[in-house]
Amino acid sequence: MYPLKRNRRLRTNKAIRSLVRETIITPNDFLVPLFVVEGKGVKDEIPSMPNYFRYSLDLLEGEVKALWKLGLKSVLLFVKVPDNLKDNKGTEALNPNGLMQRAIKTVKNVCPDMLVMTDVALDPYSAYGHDGIIENGQVLNDKTVDVLSEMSISHAQAGANFVAPSDMMDGRILSIREALEDEGFTNTGIMSYSAKYASAFYGPFRDALDSAPVDLIDIPKDKKTYQMDYANRFEAIRETEMDIDEGADIVMVKPGLCYLDIVREIKNDVDVPVAVYQVSGEYAMLKAAAEKGWLEHDAVMMEQITAIKRAGADIIASYFAKDVVKILNT
Ligand code: PBG
Repeated sequence: MYPLKRNRRLRTNKAIRSLVRETIITPNDFLVPLFVVEGKGVKDEIPSMPNYFRYSLDLLEGEVKALWKLGLKSVLLFVKVPDNLKDNKGTEALNPNGLMQRAIKTVKNVCPDMLVMTDVALDPYSAYGHDGIIENGQVLNDKTVDVLSEMSISHAQAGANFVAPSDMMDGRILSIREALEDEGFTNTGIMSYSAKYASAFYGPFRDALDSAPVDLIDIPKDKKTYQMDYANRFEAIRETEMDIDEGADIVMVKPGLCYLDIVREIKNDVDVPVAVYQVSGEYAMLKAAAEKGWLEHDAVMMEQITAIKRAGADIIASYFAKDVVKILNT
């Protein structure tokens, strides 16, 4: 009459539930994205990312210390480049005294053990908001890769532990690896944005850095000639395997929640750590719904983060990192 097996036994109370819980979130899971701007005393809230800020270097120090105190030991740096320093070739990206290079040193100065990863891509430096050099209606691949490789060396020289190319040009991992080796940066790692989709979820990030593609006559305003089509699955495996062959230490799937099928597939396929980027649009969606009182912020946040880890993420880049860790500590 009655079931012999009752799955509810393992859900009876809190103690048994915590005993059988399969996915545990800890501060070690997180990589914290940080937005850096020029100036002094700037802590600027990003309008489409409530409670997330752009920091000038002096205030970045305090934020980095606060993260470290919470047990967050890895950051991913992004810079907002002043318009007058932008051009087609990303010249400013190679400035040894540029904002990124100073930001790396600032973090290492206040917190030498903090793992510093840096965004390697042209878009914050591009007058056109693209991740590559533009010529004759094309986003050039190989010339862009040359700049990305020099940029990586520049970040390594400033003290970055890992470079994180987010551009999706072909062959950039191999070129960056060889460049780093040639310069003696054998311990500088590469976290590749391997399966990065052309996604509408990046909107708030482009607001934060003022890096959205601009209107051009001969180039589409989207990034679909280099970022992946979100309809594709096999292509993600191909991209990821190629990046590992080229020397990536860590691979990434981006965005997060809509792409957890890809995360699981990649996780089952590869033997290097898999990172997942829960992107700005995912953050903005929850903030907006919570502001309206339509979703319970913390509960949904924990559910989402746990789902990302359950899907196979070894590393989670998330704007929620601090909020999550505060909850873990209570
Ligand atoms: C640019 C870059 C983007 C993000 C990280 N690096 C935006 C883009 O590709 O246009 C998005 C991150 C986010 O939305 O949180 N190379």
